[in-house]
Amino acid sequence: MRQSRDQTIWRWFDFFPVQNRTSIVSLGEGSTPLIHARRLGEKFWLPNLYLKNDTVLPTGSLKDRSNSVGISVAKELGFETAAVISTGNAAASVAAYSAAAGLNSVVMVPAGTAPSKIIQARAYGATVIVVDGDFDYDVAKLYKSAIQEFGWYDCLSSNPYRDEGKKSYAYEMVDQLNGRIPDWVIHPTAGGTGIYAMWKGYKEFLSLAWIDRAPKLVAAQSEAAAPIVTAFDKGLADVIPVVARETVAESIQVGNPVSLGWRALAALRESNGAAVALSDAEILEAQALTGSLAGIFAEPAAATSVAAAKKMRDDRVIGVDDIVVCNLTGHGLKQPEAVRLSEKVLTPIAPTLEALRERIKRTEC
Ligand SMILES: Cc1ncc(COP(=O)(O)O)c(C=O)c1O
Repeated sequence: MRQSRDQTIWRWFDFFPVQNRTSIVSLGEGSTPLIHARRLGEKFWLPNLYLKNDTVLPTGSLKDRSNSVGISVAKELGFETAAVISTGNAAASVAAYSAAAGLNSVVMVPAGTAPSKIIQARAYGATVIVVDGDFDYDVAKLYKSAIQEFGWYDCLSSNPYRDEGKKSYAYEMVDQLNGRIPDWVIHPTAGGTGIYAMWKGYKEFLSLAWIDRAPKLVAAQSEAAAPIVTAFDKGLADVIPVVARETVAESIQVGNPVSLGWRALAALRESNGAAVALSDAEILEAQALTGSLAGIFAEPAAATSVAAAKKMRDDRVIGVDDIVVCNLTGHGLKQPEAVRLSEKVLTPIAPTLEALRERIKRTEC
C-alpha cells in the first residue's frame, strides 16, 4: 500500500473522481481516530470494540467525507452554486466546503431542524431555506424543481461524485488496524451512502489484493425511520418508502432513501451483514454510555451504531472475540438538547464547601 504524509482523505486521490489536484477542496477531513473503546467494550462484553470517531471532522459529521469530494468536482466542473436538502449535517458541510471553494451555497432544511444545525450552515455563509413540510416529500420535491430552475450543483446522494467520499472509511480502517479486517462495521444509516460506499471501498482493496477479506456491514436505523431494515428483513431488492416518524435520531430520520437504498441493501447482503432498528430509549442509552465510558459525545443518530453493537452482542449475533467498529458519525453538540439535564444540575449551590459537600453527597459521581 502506498504511504503518504497527507493525512486527509486525499492521500487516496487516485481512488476519487477528481482529475486535478488543484481542484481539491479540503478542510483537513479524514484519518479520524479509531479508538479501542475498552471500557465501553467491557460493558457490552466486547473486548474488541472500536469507535471510528467522525465527530472530529471539520464540520462535526461524516458529511465532510462526501462533500470534500463532491465540492472538488463542482469546482472542477465550473459550478458557481452548490445546493442540498438536509436533515442538518449535510447543510453545514456543503456550506463549509462551498465557502472554502468560493462557491455560493443554498441549503434547504425541513421546519423543526435543530437550530444549532441551521446556525452552523449560516455561519459558513449559506443561504438557508427552512421549508414547511416533510423532508422526504415536500422538501425533496421543491428541491428537485429548484435544481432544474436554477442550475445549481446538486449535492444529494444522487450525485455519484459525492458518494465516492465515504469510501475513505474503508481505506482508513484497513490502514488503522494495520491490515486486520474488522468482523463487523456498523454504520448509522439514512440514505444508505455510507454502507454502499464503504463496501465499494473494501471491494476496491480486495480487487487490488491489498486485503483478502472484507467485514460484514451493518446498517443501524431508528425504528421510526427504518425502510432499509424492513427491506433487508423481508429479502426485498429495493426499499419501500415509509413516512418517517419523529425520533431522537433526527439526522437519520429519512423514510425514502431514494437513490442508494437498493445499493445499500445489495452491499449488506454481499457482505453477509445485517440491519438493525433501534428504539429511542436504546439510542439514548448508547449515547450516554459512549460519553461516560468512551469519552466521546456523539449525537443520537451517531450512537445508533453503538446501540446496534449492544443489541447484536446481547442476541449473540456478534461473538465475544469479534472485532467490531462502530462509526460515530456526528458530534453531540449538533443536537445538545437531546441530553436531558435535571433541575438539580441547573440549580446553583451557595459558594461554600458545605454546600458543595452536600451536593456531592446527593449526586452520583
Ligand atoms: C449523523 C449522521 N449519521 C449517519 C448518516 C447516514 O447517512 P448515510 O446512510 O447516507 O451514510 C447521516 C446522514 O444522513 C448523519 O447525519
